[in-house]
Amino acid sequence: MKIAVLTGGGDVPGLNAAIRAVARRAYQFGWEVLAIKKGWAGLMEGDIEPLTRDKVSGILHIGGTILGTSRTNPLKKQEHMDLCFENLQKFGIEALVAIGGDDTLSVAQGLFERGAPVVGIPKTMDNDVAETEYCIGFDTATNIVADALDKLHTTASAHARIMVVEVMGRDAGWVATVGGLAGGADMILIPEVPISLEAVAEHAKRRWERGKTFSIIVVAEGAHITGIAEAEMVIQTRDAFGHVRLDKRGIGETVARELENLTGFETRAVVLGHLQRGGSPTVFDRLLATRLGFGAVQLIREGRYGYMVALKANKIVPVTLKDALAYTRTVDPELYQLAETFY
Ligand code: F6P
Repeated sequence: MKIAVLTGGGDVPGLNAAIRAVARRAYQFGWEVLAIKKGWAGLMEGDIEPLTRDKVSGILHIGGTILGTSRTNPLKKQEHMDLCFENLQKFGIEALVAIGGDDTLSVAQGLFERGAPVVGIPKTMDNDVAETEYCIGFDTATNIVADALDKLHTTASAHARIMVVEVMGRDAGWVATVGGLAGGADMILIPEVPISLEAVAEHAKRRWERGKTFSIIVVAEGAHITGIAEAEMVIQTRDAFGHVRLDKRGIGETVARELENLTGFETRAVVLGHLQRGGSPTVFDRLLATRLGFGAVQLIREGRYGYMVALKANKIVPVTLKDALAYTRTVDPELYQLAETFY
């Protein structure tokens, strides 16, 4: 058996742990493993090489991805899909493991629908892939956010300031909610729960009245805040997959400026940005990635293509890629309400 593995979309710590698990499990059956470089771009270009034992040695704890990644989307053009198929054949790939978020997995599903033997592994720090409770990278990101909030509390309190902390999260506010809850945020602004700037300002003022002369406000980069005008230039700046570049939106900076105007309290913005995708994976992510990698090989052994391995009730289970892509898994309202209890 000859299988191949690729990583697509934004990198996260834990990808290497998943690649290692896929490869090490495959070697146990005497399978050959190929590395497809830079996500779908590598499949289109034929940038494919053997993934030998030495290449997956010593990578468990290392962030990033030894395969490289991209946001290239071959679904946009028929000739790009044709190239993918040609190279699957040319390199004799009998099964493909695609590790990624909804963008990468939507290409996997597109290839599967056209007859390719593909299985998926969910990875995204946004944690918004449907039918799985966790995606690789999410736990590490929330640990980084909680750690940052711990540090920001002392300086916010010392200066009696509002600190607005911008975190990633395009369509779902999982990182903001879980990181914010764990780090004791005083307010969390997410895409799922629209809010006005005035309401945020009122909340900060009430805290001051209660004698709490600082506030930590976590804002997801995709948060819906009424009263904020989006510049046309920002909306037009897109990544390779076609998504608006939310880092260009600068929501943290805007919220901080407006809050200072509305409250009169000194306010600072901190953008955690790609720090949330850096460093070593947590124990949780290492274990999750290892279990998912192992599970993906099991799917291939059973010939169950068009599936993704998922975590449900702490068990690794197969779900169809179609179901995994059916909706964006947004923040559980009960969890968000729990966070609101501590405002
Ligand atoms: O992949 C999801 C994500 O983490 C989003 O939250 C964020 O908008 C995006 O990646 C930013 O990624 P990059 O700067 O690498 O394009």
